[in-house]
Amino acid sequence: MCGCATDAEDQTVSAPGLDNIEVDLLIQALQRRHGYDFSQYAPASLKRRVQQLTEQLDCKTISGLIERVMHEPELLPNILEGLTVPASDMFRDPTMFRGLREQVFPLLASYPQINIWQAGCAHGQEVYSLVILLEEAGLYERTQIFATDLSDRALQQAQDGIYPAREAQQWSRNYQASGGTRSLADYYSARYNLLKVDQHLRRNVTFAKHNLVSDSVFCEAHLILCRNVMIYFSNPLQNRVLSLFRDSLVRGGFLCLGLRESLEYASSAGEFTPFAEQLRIYRLAIHQERKLA
Ligand SMILES: C[S@@+](CC[C@H](N)C(=O)[O-])C[C@H]1O[C@@H](n2cnc3c(N)ncnc32)[C@H](O)[C@@H]1O
Repeated sequence: MCGCATDAEDQTVSAPGLDNIEVDLLIQALQRRHGYDFSQYAPASLKRRVQQLTEQLDCKTISGLIERVMHEPELLPNILEGLTVPASDMFRDPTMFRGLREQVFPLLASYPQINIWQAGCAHGQEVYSLVILLEEAGLYERTQIFATDLSDRALQQAQDGIYPAREAQQWSRNYQASGGTRSLADYYSARYNLLKVDQHLRRNVTFAKHNLVSDSVFCEAHLILCRNVMIYFSNPLQNRVLSLFRDSLVRGGFLCLGLRESLEYASSAGEFTPFAEQLRIYRLAIHQERKLA
């Protein structure tokens, strides 16, 4: 419950710096009550999202939101969603998907079994895009994809693969720009105002919960995609996650970041070599000493 603020409280709310204290307390509440650690997310964008969430949930103050975090555990999925924004698109940034298809897949094709980790899969649009491209390249039968996210709700929606049909036109344009060879409509059925991705596409995908803040190496991957996730993290957390990716990749394995993300200032930058830098595709250096988990 958000309780109503008195006039006196309203004056206190506008005191400079008070909202920073409240954000810190909210972070503590989430950690101690629910075990989610947001302390290393980039402060400015986290604060913005906390403020938006406070409004969305009709709380007068961030302290009101803290009270709900403590006493209404059923709100947790909404709170995680508000703080992590699981927004995505099919074939988002088509040039990157074209780069995968034309430059990375021919090299992956030399492996008898291909493991892909897609970290921060949100509602699954990215993983289905990847599956379609792998299918068209004739590689999907020997590929296993692990699609992970910290949000159970996002993972459930990703498994369901149901999206608003209004997205179809834009996604179809993205698919063509990615070098798609068929019609995107071949991969989904539309009903009323929804489209459902062909469930057969899920056959080699395992959806699993994994928190990049606290969980460890996930699999031995030939390709890791983690796009538009680390942009929300502080530098130390970005470095932790990059070490995790380094330890999860086979030598020469590929790492794809979002177009607004880069390894430029990362402490482990020297361990990766740019493969298609404009597309933010990197490769784990071949000479890298492999640390076993
Ligand atoms: C903006 S979406 C990006 C989705 C997709 N990768 C794309 O580029 O379209 C960010 C996703 O990262 C997930 N995320 C945020 N923090 C995470 C963490 N610590 N561990 C795992 N996933 C996280 C969120 O739940 C959300 O689904």
